[in-house]
Amino acid sequence: ARITLRQLLDHAAEHGYAVPAFNISNMEMGLAIMNAARKANAPVILAASRGARAYAGDRLLARLIDGLVETFPEIPVCLHLDHGNNLATCATAIQHGFTSVMMDGSLLADGKTPADYDYNRDITARVVAMAHACGVSVEGELGVLGSLETGMGDQEDGHGATEKLSEDQLLTDPEEAERFVRETGVDALAVAMGTSHGAYKFTRKPDGDILAMNVIEEINRRLPNTHLVMHGSSSVPEELRQLINNFGGDMRPTWGVPVEEIQRGIRSGVRKVNIDTDNRMAMTAGVRRVLANDPSEFDPRKYLKEGTALMMELCQARFEAFGTAGQA
Ligand code: G3H
Ligand code: 13P
Ligand code: NA
Ligand code: ZN
Repeated sequence: ARITLRQLLDHAAEHGYAVPAFNISNMEMGLAIMNAARKANAPVILAASRGARAYAGDRLLARLIDGLVETFPEIPVCLHLDHGNNLATCATAIQHGFTSVMMDGSLLADGKTPADYDYNRDITARVVAMAHACGVSVEGELGVLGSLETGMGDQEDGHGATEKLSEDQLLTDPEEAERFVRETGVDALAVAMGTSHGAYKFTRKPDGDILAMNVIEEINRRLPNTHLVMHGSSSVPEELRQLINNFGGDMRPTWGVPVEEIQRGIRSGVRKVNIDTDNRMAMTAGVRRVLANDPSEFDPRKYLKEGTALMMELCQARFEAFGTAGQA
């Protein structure tokens, strides 16, 4: 059944767990996530980005979700717009059955230029008024995602800030967060504390200098009743990088967000954890392995099945690690 983000995260807060938000853009990713949820008996957040909506098309994406919800009737499903950039992308998501939208006003509508506080507050408050009138939840974001090592945003992925950022912009200010939640009425707040999107987040195992979990702890002290969201939270498993490289891929050495740091966040009010890169890597590793081991294979079902199986394992591991398992 469908559930809103607010309903889901209220339950998560009450029981001290977090829900991974897995990005979806095709049927195989949907099957991997839902079969993992069934095995773990976990509720799910299916996150669709503007890129995913363009890839599958809104109609097909909406029918795909309908099909998943009907096929897995025992699993609570929140269908969430990832990184909405203006009122229209949020409104059309709602028209297609999304139960939650993110209005990312940390950047201007171009998705690249850091916005000032007033712009972010005003556009987010407008989305909250519209979405809440429709019974739909809203996630806002304060602070710009990017690396504390280099000061750069997510350029490699083609989205995120493209200018050099100051530490002020890269770390959400706890006092401003308090004001932002009060002035916008968001149901959940994404914070910036050193993570970035994509596979290349850190050049070494992150410590407190480059992954500022203390910012989350401070925000949670000021806003104990606000559901916090961590973006860019793939762990970028070394085993998957090796698998990809062993079967013809080329990913350079890198670090993601260790699962134990996410668990530390969950103890401080983090209720939604965004993961896309890990699943992309799992899918790619499985596909590459089949195609490398049997170059004569050309049935897409054979290699997609293997990618889907690896992605399902990853999703299941996150459900277990975040305490989502058993909560459906
Ligand atoms: O926001 C980042 C997610 O990984 C979605 O990525 O915009 O390439 O679909 P995308
Ligand atoms: P990753 O690139 O770390 O998987 O982050 C995904 C994300 O934040 C989607 O909004
Ligand atoms: Na952002
Ligand atoms: Zn994100």
